[in-house]
Amino acid sequence: MRPHVLASCAVSLDGFLDDASPRRLVLSGPEDLDRVDAERAHVDAILVGAGTVRADDPRLLVRSAARRAARTACGQVPSPLRVVLSGRPVDPAARVLTEPGADTVVLAGSPGEVLDDLGGRGVVRLMVEGGAGVLREFLAAGVVDELQLVVAPRLVGDGPRFTGAPESVPHLVETRGVGDDLLLRYRFGAPDDRHLAEACILTERCPPSASAFSVGCVVVGDDGSVLGVGWSRRDDPLDHAEEGVLRDLAGDPRLPGATLYSSLEPCGQRASRPDSCATLIERAGVGRVVYAWREPPEFVALPSGVAQLDRAGITTTHLPRWEPLARRCARCAPQ
Ligand SMILES: NC(=O)c1ccc[n+]([C@@H]2O[C@H](COP(=O)([O-])OP(=O)(O)OC[C@H]3O[C@@H](n4cnc5c(N)ncnc54)[C@H](OP(=O)(O)O)[C@@H]3O)[C@@H](O)[C@H]2O)c1
Ligand SMILES: [Zn+2]
Repeated sequence: MRPHVLASCAVSLDGFLDDASPRRLVLSGPEDLDRVDAERAHVDAILVGAGTVRADDPRLLVRSAARRAARTACGQVPSPLRVVLSGRPVDPAARVLTEPGADTVVLAGSPGEVLDDLGGRGVVRLMVEGGAGVLREFLAAGVVDELQLVVAPRLVGDGPRFTGAPESVPHLVETRGVGDDLLLRYRFGAPDDRHLAEACILTERCPPSASAFSVGCVVVGDDGSVLGVGWSRRDDPLDHAEEGVLRDLAGDPRLPGATLYSSLEPCGQRASRPDSCATLIERAGVGRVVYAWREPPEFVALPSGVAQLDRAGITTTHLPRWEPLARRCARCAPQ
């Protein structure tokens, strides 16, 4: 299965990824560099082109010791696999090869071939950090799921530009000020894929639990606007993801036209609460449910939430493409 691809870069106000000088230009401020470090801590591999290795000589490691420790506590290696794309040997003195802290592989091939290779190595979540050529190539190949574009308050004048393919249409998910910089977060793809991938990534926010799964949930209105988001144990240690978001939206007249996206099939019965999530969804009048991961085998003895929804006339759609992303942090501690 191909990994989920997050493309991440910083651009100047005039759209440049770097200036034309040979020295390294760090465009975004310390708050954003820390945000990027947190994103690195959430992925299985970080990829750059050989041009970036030659120009910037990055280490591509998770800088924060606390984030490395949190990864280790989740059973992951402290820093993600480092991937360099190159058609020729990489300078053996490059820090991505000499600095300890993570493995490095050098790969060549089309973006699709590279993603198939990384998927075969168990990479579920990939971060593509540049540079200009690689970002353009991955965007043009239509393999980017999420784009995090940071606009830094700088005018550079000349240098490599951020460019993509005109046919790829990004959809804005979030804007956020980060220090003096502005983060623009976009998703590509069909609406069901975009919203379900968001739900799967929300599993990373769940407080840890030794016994319960981490699940993410997004409710989207019939006009495509996000009505609410939830995740397991968000407000209460017993909360399921669907429970929190449906509590927020109680009585909302937009619910009958809405679609609920959940990383895991909604539960059909539970011991800790009187109502299952399938019952809560039915009662809320939600019209459609889309999920990534069918109930894990230890639950098969329980009544199926999806069967209950089907009986209630609620449309259910299973998108197994996102199951690896749904499962990736289903038992992770947060960072
Ligand atoms: N602002 C930001 O967020 C940011 C982030 C990263 C980089 N940058 C900037 O971007 C600039 C570098 O961009 P760039 O376009 O020169 O280089 P790049 O995109 O980092 O790398 C291009 C190189 O990657 C290799 N490559 C690309 N696709 C490949 C494939 N499918 N198979 C095998 N090899 C492949 C080729 O290397 P070979 O020639 O070795 O075959 C190619 O020359 C630098 O100025 C850097 O500072 C900015
Ligand atoms: Zn539930």
